[in-house]
Amino acid sequence: MNYIDNLFNLSGKVAVITGGGGVLAATIGKGLANAGMKIVFLDINEEAAINAATLINSEGGEAIGLKTNVLEMDALEKTKKLVLEKYSTVDLLLNAAGGNMPGATISPESTIFDLKIDDLDKVTDLNFKGTVLPSMVFGKVMADKMSGNIINISSMAAFQSITRVIGYSAAKAAVSNLTMWMAMELGMKYEGKIRVNALAPGFFIGNQNRALLLNEDGTYTERGQKVINNTPMGRFGEADELVGAVLYLASDAATFVTGVVLPIDGGFSTFSGV
Ligand SMILES: NC(=O)c1ccc[n+]([C@@H]2O[C@H](COP(=O)([O-])OP(=O)(O)OC[C@H]3O[C@@H](n4cnc5c(N)ncnc54)[C@H](O)[C@@H]3O)[C@@H](O)[C@H]2O)c1
Repeated sequence: MNYIDNLFNLSGKVAVITGGGGVLAATIGKGLANAGMKIVFLDINEEAAINAATLINSEGGEAIGLKTNVLEMDALEKTKKLVLEKYSTVDLLLNAAGGNMPGATISPESTIFDLKIDDLDKVTDLNFKGTVLPSMVFGKVMADKMSGNIINISSMAAFQSITRVIGYSAAKAAVSNLTMWMAMELGMKYEGKIRVNALAPGFFIGNQNRALLLNEDGTYTERGQKVINNTPMGRFGEADELVGAVLYLASDAATFVTGVVLPIDGGFSTFSGV
């Protein structure tokens, strides 16, 4: 194997992907499987996790899908046991379970004073605690063997304020902060052998935001058009445009990279809008 192939080689390594049945996670998993990784998709939606795995297996890769709620420590521990029985180790944890919830947003007709605190709790739990808990469970496997990688998913909503999305934005800002904190903690206590980074995707069409950004005929909604106007590349992202960044961060090409929150956003985060 030549030097560059070796640098990016992930063949035979084991990736656990939470929220694995989702649009972005399933696509990233497919990319990692193409790189020879064994993929474990975890999702509260068992069917979605299994479907993501089945697709990979049908194309000659290796994957399994397991029902797991990232907010339940017992469920995560049980899943860890299954993963270790099947694959013996975990090399990469991709924390992709997350998303927004209607009650934790402020519509144009309402104000911050209408915020539903129960929904705020739910959205911060899913995005923040739902990243912390799997990191504790699967990060411990990495700590025990002194090697591994964690990649979280933050968002543009963590960089600057975006109308409506109060709870999600705060939770993703917490994920960005957690990424830096965990990078420090695991870097210092495990001889720099465990790295923690995050992706900050811009706007990708997913199940949660499709109706917000696109009309039924495929044209942009008013909000979708605003996003495009603020994206120098003038388009939404495609899920497979996240694969390369994960390959890089998970591989030996990035052995001195930790605590980074990497925007993949067509320039959205750099643009003043003027
Ligand atoms: N789509 C975008 O534009 C975008 C932008 C920035 C960040 N993100 C983030 O990327 C990640 C994936 O987003 P997506 O658009 O693919 O979303 P998605 O809704 O397609 O996928 C999320 C998955 O998480 C699963 N999930 C929800 N609660 C769970 C729980 N408690 N335990 C386990 N699984 C659970 C869902 O069943 C779903 O399959 C999320 O963290 C999201 O916030 C998305």
